[in-house]
Amino acid sequence: MCGIVCYVGKQKAKPILLEGLKRLEYRGYDSAGLAVQNGPHIDCFKAVGKIIELEKKINDLEIEGASGIAHTRWATHGEPSEINAHPQTDQEENVFVIHNGIIENFYILKRKLEKSGATFSSETDTEVLAHLIARNFDGSLQEAVRKTMTQVEGTFGLAVIHREAPGEVVVARRGSPLIIGVGKDGNFAASDVAAMVRYTNEVIHLNDNELALITEDQVSISTAQAKAVTRAIEKVEWQPEDAELNGFPHFMLKEIYEQPETARNAMRGRLELSEGVSKLGGIMPVWDQLKECRHMVFVACGTSYHAGCVGRYIFERLTEIDVEVEIASEFRYRKLNFPPNTFIVAISQSGETADTLAAIREARRKGARLLGIVNVVGSSISRETEAGIYNHAGPEIGVASTKIFVSQLVILTLLAVLLGRHQKLSLTEGVEAIKALSNLPDLLRRVLSQDNHIQAIAEKYYCCNNWLFLGRKYEYPIALEAALKLKEISYIHAEGYPAGEMKHGPIALINPDMPTVAIVPQDSMYEKMMSNIQEVKSRRGPIIAIATEGDRKIRELADEVIEVPPTLEYLYPALTVVPCQLLAYYCARFLNRDIDKPRNLAKSVTVE
Ligand code: AGP
Ligand code: GLU
Repeated sequence: MCGIVCYVGKQKAKPILLEGLKRLEYRGYDSAGLAVQNGPHIDCFKAVGKIIELEKKINDLEIEGASGIAHTRWATHGEPSEINAHPQTDQEENVFVIHNGIIENFYILKRKLEKSGATFSSETDTEVLAHLIARNFDGSLQEAVRKTMTQVEGTFGLAVIHREAPGEVVVARRGSPLIIGVGKDGNFAASDVAAMVRYTNEVIHLNDNELALITEDQVSISTAQAKAVTRAIEKVEWQPEDAELNGFPHFMLKEIYEQPETARNAMRGRLELSEGVSKLGGIMPVWDQLKECRHMVFVACGTSYHAGCVGRYIFERLTEIDVEVEIASEFRYRKLNFPPNTFIVAISQSGETADTLAAIREARRKGARLLGIVNVVGSSISRETEAGIYNHAGPEIGVASTKIFVSQLVILTLLAVLLGRHQKLSLTEGVEAIKALSNLPDLLRRVLSQDNHIQAIAEKYYCCNNWLFLGRKYEYPIALEAALKLKEISYIHAEGYPAGEMKHGPIALINPDMPTVAIVPQDSMYEKMMSNIQEVKSRRGPIIAIATEGDRKIRELADEVIEVPPTLEYLYPALTVVPCQLLAYYCARFLNRDIDKPRNLAKSVTVE
């Protein structure tokens, strides 16, 4: 999903803006552009396709100017093209604006502007912002933006410069993230902290319907209603190298290998072994109500939804809480009736997913309490929930979510142990859970040591056009997640299915050209799974089994076996998902896919 980078300072803006755009590449885009200001002179360059196309245009140009804005576009209105790329301008080319989001009333505004003499050059909704700001400009860029905010409906994260306001960048947000960076040699703004973490780790989060005037040495924030805002500077935990490949061929593989450390980071300072309980400071503001809660709804999208599905089984095992799991884009349109003291738990890596954000806003309207399990500190969901738990996983750059999934499972287990130990979970069970959790990083390392074996399996089957993933209970969501991974980075069609449903239809699909991945650790569903594997085998379907170390029976049935070390039943998913991630990764590699930036996908889906 599109990206914004801005800089105002002492250094030349061009290299800083280009570097920032490259840090946002992982978010997915189709065109890019920038505008650099030097006094009343503004140089603007745009290119369709990858950032390298923009670089080819400007690398040899001496572009002076120490302030500017840059954008990667993910088209919503108007095809990916140079004319539709941002920055967008008014016809006199006084205003240059970049925008993330959708202007819902752009059509009416465009007609009105055309009637009053405006000429449009692009098909975008964004261009109406340039014309409105140009018309509202009366010497103050900040006031022109403030007025424009009252005229538009929809979502925006925007940045704008004006010929007659040198050294100024004005940014504004409504429903699309924007963060300000406070640097030594100037100030920044971006849609994602990754774009500026190389220059500063001091950030200020803008809230919806706020705007900021940024100059070389000042940041002043105010509301659309012209009320001044004082906002503390926060420090981000990320380091520049977190957004580097560090020798890996792809961010996705790097992040798969980070999982032992990610699991450790999710637990750091949160385990109380002697009491068999976890410590989660972030939920203490609502603890009095939360510990009495007996009904929860996990809402999320994609991989985070699959984590919630595992979480439901974990809560069922460790607590007395009824848990529903809902896909956020469905949940938000439901007639919601919550029992008293219901907690909605939003699970989101980015904390900016539009459907999940909309779902919690709808739930709050209906009187539910809100918790967040989020990775990006200060993101919209983290700020719109009453309390929550951060993953502390660092940036996840690969579009396909991997390390965050394991982190989410760890955090859901920590939350379940904490609540369960205030209900019926015994000290012994709590200590058992905490011990097993603290062993997880080492167990993850043992799974990763089978990388070559998994790669060889992928090499045998990557040409198959259809895959089936089967699991039961805790492993059914892993089947769903495994299928999603394979689909989204290799473009191979795959389905995740509850193994018990095989005989209700999918068994008709079984054939020698369709591998079935059976996720069959030695848990309470083992015997049932072995029967399902027999059903597949008797119809000559190839079987790739993910099984517990030392399982001899499975070797009589399966064509391929990938082993995971033994652990508690509710912690197996954090292990069994890893071979699925690697299978998807290597199939995509053998197919030469753009693994970190798969076609049509974005890292954070901030539009509906
Ligand atoms: C998963 O690999 C995808 N990147 C996608 O399904 C993602 O999990 C989903 O968009 C939710 O994102 P979030 O966790 O940032 O809310
Ligand atoms: N709606 C704008 C356009 O289509 C911005 C899209 C984006 O968020 O990148 O140009």
